[in-house]
Amino acid sequence: MSFQNPVFIPGPTNIPEVIRKACDMPTVDHRSPIFGRILHPVRENVRAVLKSESASVIVFPATGTGGWECAITNTLSAGDKVLMARNGMFSHKWIDMCRRFGLEVQVVETPWGQGIPADTFGAILAEDKTHTIKAVLATHNETATGVVSDIAAIRRAMDGAHHPARLLVDGVSSIGSMDFRFDDWGVDVAVTGSQKGFMLPAGLAIVGFSEKAKAAGATAGLPRCFFDIRDMEKGYQVNGYPYTPSVGLLNGLKMSSEMLLDEGLENVFARHRRIATGVRAAVEAWGLKLCAESADVQSDTVSAVMTPLGTEVVGQAASVYDMAFGVGLGEVAGKLFRIGHLGNLTDAMMLSGLATAEMCMADLGMDITLGSGVAAAQKVYARGRTETAKKEAA
Ligand SMILES: Cc1ncc(COP(=O)(O)O)c(C=O)c1O
Repeated sequence: MSFQNPVFIPGPTNIPEVIRKACDMPTVDHRSPIFGRILHPVRENVRAVLKSESASVIVFPATGTGGWECAITNTLSAGDKVLMARNGMFSHKWIDMCRRFGLEVQVVETPWGQGIPADTFGAILAEDKTHTIKAVLATHNETATGVVSDIAAIRRAMDGAHHPARLLVDGVSSIGSMDFRFDDWGVDVAVTGSQKGFMLPAGLAIVGFSEKAKAAGATAGLPRCFFDIRDMEKGYQVNGYPYTPSVGLLNGLKMSSEMLLDEGLENVFARHRRIATGVRAAVEAWGLKLCAESADVQSDTVSAVMTPLGTEVVGQAASVYDMAFGVGLGEVAGKLFRIGHLGNLTDAMMLSGLATAEMCMADLGMDITLGSGVAAAQKVYARGRTETAKKEAA
């Protein structure tokens, strides 16, 4: 069993060495100014990654699921109506959580493989003249299907209907890897976790709140204690938490958010787009289809490749080649395998993943020509001779 290979699950993602080292630190007093020198830059940097001027960034010792809970309990009351689409396992699970908290969920059933239907949302909101719908909840990137939804279009639909509902967005597998515009899209709460675009181990729920969302907290009636952002903000004012923070992970988040901002967000997004385009070229060369039904919804962080041997491909990769891909979840279990391509990834790492996927599929008797997907991706990744090489050759 080797730990040398990169993972190609759609999170947790590969952890860069510098981030591992940043997490590994001596104990510091988490109620001291020393801790503040970690906490405050983290909040500033994450706000920049969200592309927001004013969002309040709160970081919990939890995971993305805790972030979902934080988003709803701080803004809603039992019996409140919310609007959501079910188009994959993660939207399904957030719907389930809302129901368990006593919210009334109007679900727009959407084929797994399609994005959130903004037009349908617009029509529903326009009909809701008395504004019984208090929030629209959207999963930006459905990690189960490799489908990205158009949050700007949802905002336009909400504004077009002149509806005051708040917009709560799950950006767990998009934030830090694909463009996310908290301010431009009028997002009220954004949720992510540490283990995807931020390239850290799981263990932090990272949430951004707009002023409007924070104001809703004054009357929100759902029970909240651990995830109460009011306690957290009080703590932040004196460099502390209402409980014991995960200092090492926060120090890692300081490092990873600096890395994203140093690379430049647009460069990070372009890298993900290029790597994803190579993966899509490989899938086409294999003669296979993606779960994402059309090009406009294909995710730049995860590709779900349709094959009835999906689970076997993942098993073969793990047991024979020490490489991890993602299995199908929920409705698409056994119908696909997922290639995660987010976080700390290079073209060369991706080629190793595609080469291994090819070997697994060929091993299982699928009609795959070894090298076909790799060659297709290489054509996307090859960037010609560098300027230096050209000068040397001249
Ligand atoms: C889109 C999305 N939302 C929510 C979650 C849940 O996050 P966690 O597993 O960190 O609780 C995940 C996990 O993969 C996800 O991909």
